[in-house]
Amino acid sequence: MSWTVRATVHQAPTPSELQTLHDVFITIDEAGLISSIEPHANVGDEADVTLGPDQRLLPGLVDTHIHAPQWPQLGTGLDLPLEEWLFVHTFPLEARFADLDFARDVWDDMVPALLRHGTTTAVYYGSAHLEATTALAEACIRYGQRAFVGRTAMDHPAGTPEWYRDVDAAAAVRDSRQSIEEIRALDSDLVQPIVTPRFIPACSDEALAGLGQLAAETDTLVQTHCSENDWEHGHVLERHGISDAASLDRFGLLRRGTVLAHGGLLGDDDLPLLAERGAGVAHCPLSNAYFGDAVFPARRAMTAGVHVGLGTDIAGGASPSVMFNAAHAVTSSRMLEDGVDPARPRSERGRADQRIDIVTAFHLATVGGAQLLGLPVGLLAVGRPFDAIAVATDGPGVHGARRWPEVDGPADDGVGDARIFEKIVRSTDASRIKRTWVQGTCVQDSSHD
Ligand code: GUN
Ligand code: FE
Repeated sequence: MSWTVRATVHQAPTPSELQTLHDVFITIDEAGLISSIEPHANVGDEADVTLGPDQRLLPGLVDTHIHAPQWPQLGTGLDLPLEEWLFVHTFPLEARFADLDFARDVWDDMVPALLRHGTTTAVYYGSAHLEATTALAEACIRYGQRAFVGRTAMDHPAGTPEWYRDVDAAAAVRDSRQSIEEIRALDSDLVQPIVTPRFIPACSDEALAGLGQLAAETDTLVQTHCSENDWEHGHVLERHGISDAASLDRFGLLRRGTVLAHGGLLGDDDLPLLAERGAGVAHCPLSNAYFGDAVFPARRAMTAGVHVGLGTDIAGGASPSVMFNAAHAVTSSRMLEDGVDPARPRSERGRADQRIDIVTAFHLATVGGAQLLGLPVGLLAVGRPFDAIAVATDGPGVHGARRWPEVDGPADDGVGDARIFEKIVRSTDASRIKRTWVQGTCVQDSSHD
């Protein structure tokens, strides 16, 4: 059955455009697609769902990089460098997902929590286990979250512990193929598999080549980590004599829609290669502050024609919120531009023209991620899936950064709209996201909390 919603919409169709649709009447068809958007004044009918003046409708958020089995360690263990953190904290935790009951408990906690945070699309790394990974896909379907779900392939004897690895390259490829088949057999419009070599240090050359072939044969997207920090970037240079991106390309892993997490140290030669292949970067600004050794130059990548989305990188990033990461993407771009070492003279401290603003960051959190993945989400427009969130700007349970009409303006002019939108992106947490819809279905409703 089709249904209707009446609301004021904020969205960012381009990196520089904040679009506000005042008091519109949106019709969503049986398939969950938007069939019309009209000014409410032209329609006059009462809608099935009406968001009051203290709520705004935004497109749902796209998390292009998240490690599902790291959910239980969110917010902890970040004092170690990446290469130690993996062995001390992360591999032992991920190894526990051999226990399917434990895995199901985690998925049942995590997927609804992420819907509360407004994540309508997630690109998940699973663990190396087939069963737990298929159970993650099932949980996404059950709770109604759009997702790409990948079994993590990792077979390198030096880059993985012997108690948490694929036994050899053949097993890494075989189990990855089986994971694709199992997830496709669930026959869901929402959830798709994704080929997931953990990163070059954790994979043998044979596995990388086999996974590249598998992606081509099965026409499946790919995700991996790329040039995340000095250690990882250096490992690939030493082992293959070329950059991480060039090496992934040699293995057939740099394809249209390939999601490269982090990419902070991508070189000038790498960016045109990514643009040509149609691959893109999952920019994880919060995680990069701990593990990245540098700020990912998002503006530089966008200017080079590379797709950029945002990622939480749970649990390398300590927040489950894509919105929080959008705000932080702005902050870190300012630190890149200004520089961070007060002992250096101002003229040598930073790198010119690197800042992004709130509109650009929200664009990355929605349209940017969607374009990278080839999904028609991220924007509320006729013919697109209705993936959306209702955000409170005032009312019960909303504390701080409310809308002050006396200060913020009447909210029906450009200035007032821009101010409210800025407040939303900088201060929205889960308590403010009152409803979440995916493909026209309400998958989270805390409007009465
Ligand atoms: N590189 C390889 N595995 C991981 C991981 O789990 N998290 C992050 N941030 N980087 C990685
Ligand atoms: Fe990661």
